[in-house]
Amino acid sequence: MAAPPQSQSKQYDTIAAAYSSSNLTDLPGEIITANLLRRGLGDVQDLTILDLACGSGLYSRMVIELGARTVTAVDISSEMLRIGQSIEDSAARDSDTTAAPDGTSADGRTGYRIVYHQADCSQPLDHLGLKPGSFDLVTANWLFNYASNRTELANMWRNVSRYLAPGGRFVGVGELHSLEPALNRSEWAGIRVSVAGETDDATKVHTELLSEPPVAFDSFILKCADWYRDVPLEVGMEDVAFTPPGIEEVPEHCRDVEEWREVLVVPYCLLYTATKT
Ligand SMILES: C[S@@+](CC[C@H](N)C(=O)[O-])C[C@H]1O[C@@H](n2cnc3c(N)ncnc32)[C@H](O)[C@@H]1O
Repeated sequence: MAAPPQSQSKQYDTIAAAYSSSNLTDLPGEIITANLLRRGLGDVQDLTILDLACGSGLYSRMVIELGARTVTAVDISSEMLRIGQSIEDSAARDSDTTAAPDGTSADGRTGYRIVYHQADCSQPLDHLGLKPGSFDLVTANWLFNYASNRTELANMWRNVSRYLAPGGRFVGVGELHSLEPALNRSEWAGIRVSVAGETDDATKVHTELLSEPPVAFDSFILKCADWYRDVPLEVGMEDVAFTPPGIEEVPEHCRDVEEWREVLVVPYCLLYTATKT
């Protein structure tokens, strides 16, 4: 049987400190991922953004740096959120650049442009009190690979669709849709994936990020690759596309280096994009 989503909270509570203090963002695969996401996001100036599975806020901070107005950031792991909030707190202490008139943290403090909430994004988020249709852009980076079946994937996409304004964009990065390429990625990129189990709908995979310290976690690749495209269409999204990174994601001075080109042969991630109808 698939592990219940609640176990995702405990899983990331355990690895949160290593995840957030590691040199993860220096791994070639993660550099490419960040560049792909940045290109996909395009102009986010003054946008109101919802970040599902925000973790400790890596990409919430990225979109703020790119000019977004506010980010509502949701994750299941209290420990990932605690680290994200402490980064906000120390930034707020050091300068007033995180202050925004309408940013209010979960415990009622004002002045934060990133506001963190704890919730399971594979369940309805009604209890958070967010206004449906009120976000210009929703992002979710490495969320959908925690769906262990079609229902959980559909619930995640329902949250995306419910909170996006009509015409609003979804932009996020995520895991590949089939097992074989995921097992065969260049370790030089910084990732090693192995099979950890089977459910009716999914292969459970164990992922090791080869950072310092290393970080490891379990997630899922659904057996029916079509679900990744069909499900968002069923819940009110259109223009659903999955784009692998290209040479433009490789830092300019590395584009002739063989290892970097190898990383592109089997993608490290996909850019997921869609629009709310
Ligand atoms: C690989 S981390 C990515 C964090 C962040 N988006 C980033 O890219 O740095 C995956 C995150 O997904 C969160 N997560 C997993 N399942 C979740 C769920 N059902 N609801 C909300 N968050 C979930 C984990 O707690 C973890 O923080």
